[in-house]
Amino acid sequence: MKRVLVTGGGTGIGRAIAHCFAGAGHGVTIAGRRLAPLEETARGHDITVRTADVTDEASVAALFEQEFDVVIANAGAGTATKVADTTLAQWNATLAVNLTGTFLTFREALRDMPQGGRLIAIASTAALQGGSNIAAYAAAKHGVLGLVRSLAKEVAKKELTCNAICPGFVDTEMAEAAITGVMGRFEVNRERATKMVVSGNPQGRLIDPAEVAATALWLASDAARSINGHALSVSGGEI
Ligand SMILES: NC(=O)c1ccc[n+]([C@@H]2O[C@H](COP(=O)([O-])OP(=O)(O)OC[C@H]3O[C@@H](n4cnc5c(N)ncnc54)[C@H](OP(=O)(O)O)[C@@H]3O)[C@@H](O)[C@H]2O)c1
Repeated sequence: MKRVLVTGGGTGIGRAIAHCFAGAGHGVTIAGRRLAPLEETARGHDITVRTADVTDEASVAALFEQEFDVVIANAGAGTATKVADTTLAQWNATLAVNLTGTFLTFREALRDMPQGGRLIAIASTAALQGGSNIAAYAAAKHGVLGLVRSLAKEVAKKELTCNAICPGFVDTEMAEAAITGVMGRFEVNRERATKMVVSGNPQGRLIDPAEVAATALWLASDAARSINGHALSVSGGEI
């Protein structure tokens, strides 16, 4: 049994990861700012709940009063604005949760991480390619990959690994927000907007959060001990 921390574990991909690891017999702790979704995720499962804000140094440090074998930096948020319309506050907030949050989570995790530990970042295909209206998000996620690739080299001798998972559009609230945004911007119905959102995925569908969770479970396994510094695209061949 591994001790696993999932940030942003109250909803979407984080919830799927928490249920997947708990189902595989691991000891799971989930963290996020709102208690209600965390408790909803934990209901009926042996999952520990902690409130924390990954952009806050002290809040992240408090999470690591206990050790974890597997730390999954999943908390994140998107922005959909053109560069010209992006305020400095939006830019800073996007970098804070996606990039600085991952940095703080991994830095604190490393203080006591035992041999064989795993650091996993949920990045995005936006870490591998740019796109219109997502510059702040893409810049943050590209930054996550820089962090992951560098950290992978730093920790290799300690038999720790650090990897990123890069999903395309996954069926969560975040994809729902993108679909609603497209409906408003292009004045199209939900069906058309969904098709437009998934058009970048050659398989033409939203990805199931359980697919991302299964990838994380494999990365956390002993079988993946040589997988280090990678960006695993879970995107139906988008990139
Ligand atoms: N859905 C997609 O299409 C997609 C594709 C590629 C990558 N991703 C990435 O996957 C990750 C999960 O996204 P999702 O789709 O599952 O979206 P989601 O349902 O909106 O989940 C984001 C989670 O992060 C938590 N969070 C946000 N800010 C936080 C903060 N400052 N401190 C702690 N927790 C925070 C949220 O909980 P609280 O609000 O309660 O804090 C929430 O549970 C994100 O990193 C996202 O960028 C998503």
